[in-house]
Amino acid sequence: MDQTILLIDDDPSLRRVTEYNLSARGFTVLAAESGFQGLEFFKTHHPDLVVSDVKLGDMNGLDLLEQIKQESPDTPVIIMTAFGSIEMAVQAMHKGAFNFITKPFDRDTLILSCEKALELTGLRSQARLLAHEVNRLTGTKGIVSASSAMKELLETASRAANSEATVLISGESGTGKEVLARLIHQNSPRHKGPMVAVNCAAIPATLLESELFGHVRGAFTGAVKDRKGHFMTASRGSLFLDEIGELAVEVQVKLLRAIQERQIQPLGSEKATKVDIRIIAATNLDLQERISNGDFREDLYYRLSVIPLFIPPLRERIEDIPALVSHFLKKFDAPADVCFSRQALNQMKTYHWPGNIREMQNIVERCIILRKTPLIEAADLNLPGMETRTSVLDPVIPDEGISLEAIEKAYVIKALEKAGQNRSEAARLLKIPRHVLLYRLEKYNL
Ligand SMILES: Nc1ncnc2c1ncn2[C@@H]1O[C@H](COP(=O)(O)OP(=O)(O)OP(=O)(O)O)[C@@H](O)[C@H]1O
Ligand SMILES: [Mg+2]
Repeated sequence: MDQTILLIDDDPSLRRVTEYNLSARGFTVLAAESGFQGLEFFKTHHPDLVVSDVKLGDMNGLDLLEQIKQESPDTPVIIMTAFGSIEMAVQAMHKGAFNFITKPFDRDTLILSCEKALELTGLRSQARLLAHEVNRLTGTKGIVSASSAMKELLETASRAANSEATVLISGESGTGKEVLARLIHQNSPRHKGPMVAVNCAAIPATLLESELFGHVRGAFTGAVKDRKGHFMTASRGSLFLDEIGELAVEVQVKLLRAIQERQIQPLGSEKATKVDIRIIAATNLDLQERISNGDFREDLYYRLSVIPLFIPPLRERIEDIPALVSHFLKKFDAPADVCFSRQALNQMKTYHWPGNIREMQNIVERCIILRKTPLIEAADLNLPGMETRTSVLDPVIPDEGISLEAIEKAYVIKALEKAGQNRSEAARLLKIPRHVLLYRLEKYNL
């Protein structure tokens, strides 16, 4: 077991007896004769357990306890108190002692108490390991999810990650398909292996086959040496086939075979090679529609979509918007006082986000860089096609009419707010002389 106990007692004969009893039981014992020496040993040797007398020549055992707890809250401390000093014992427990034993004590009481304390440390570190593991498996670092739709999706994804099953992620452009794919890989049993991403749309059909499956020397003009394909480089890891919907039909047949048989045949090679990969595919196209148009093989679709994951567009999970905004403010290192006005947030919630999270991320970044004041307003977002109230040239008059004075008053109040109640600055914002503003303030009782 090889566990170290730090024993602190200033009484030499008691110290020797206790040291003997603990060593005889198989513990490594560090014996300190004073509080200061005890602390020093504690810092240099990191013992698994501390057994300390409450009355030390140079230090109160309870102060020592406090210092140890500060240094390492999880290390158990057993306090030895003189018979009858219940009060001391209670204080020791309050300060976080694992237990106290009253002197004189017999050998078994001491050893039983030490073993219990050490068992607890063992359990604690096991619990920590377990918590770490749970965090790794369910960890969603970098993915913001406040809406129930996203939370549910991430939960399914983390269950899928644990398996070897092929996953098909679909969703509009910029919804986070690639981040989700990486998350699945990182939380899968293959996380130590590579994740190789292939954009099926970016490679011409003629080259794709050799890119995926590799080729041998002389397989075609220009094939001057053997080349491994992505299926081989992703070995023991995951192969991320992005934009799978764009895959040419000729290549779809070969992909289907590779998935079914778990083996590939490099171009120009006679023999097939086994592959050990997990496939995660993604698409922003409607595969069903492509199937009915004859552009995508139905059998391949079923092979791929063992676990289908659909990421909803941002406009359908607007609960995520405030969380995403604060995530991006942090990501782009915005100073703490930078924030979006309520109107700005509201406008983000009504905007239709054709580019989804990627578009939003770009807009937040742009606003942070171009901001003139820490408060970013709706107009600063510049969302295409969105009505911004400040557009004076194209005002909207509701059917029930609108009071010009009320509008004027609202603008005056807003300008003052924006100017931090500085009247000259507010006048400048409203492009009127200061005395005109003062007149308005009086008129509206502001
Ligand atoms: N839930 C999220 N939380 C935080 N950031 C996100 C989230 N989803 C996506 N992003 C960010 O948005 C950007 C786009 O994500 P990603 O590249 O995964 O989208 P995609 O669905 O693959 O898009 P495309 O279809 O255009 O390839 C990335 O910068 C990513 O970090
Ligand atoms: Mg992508």
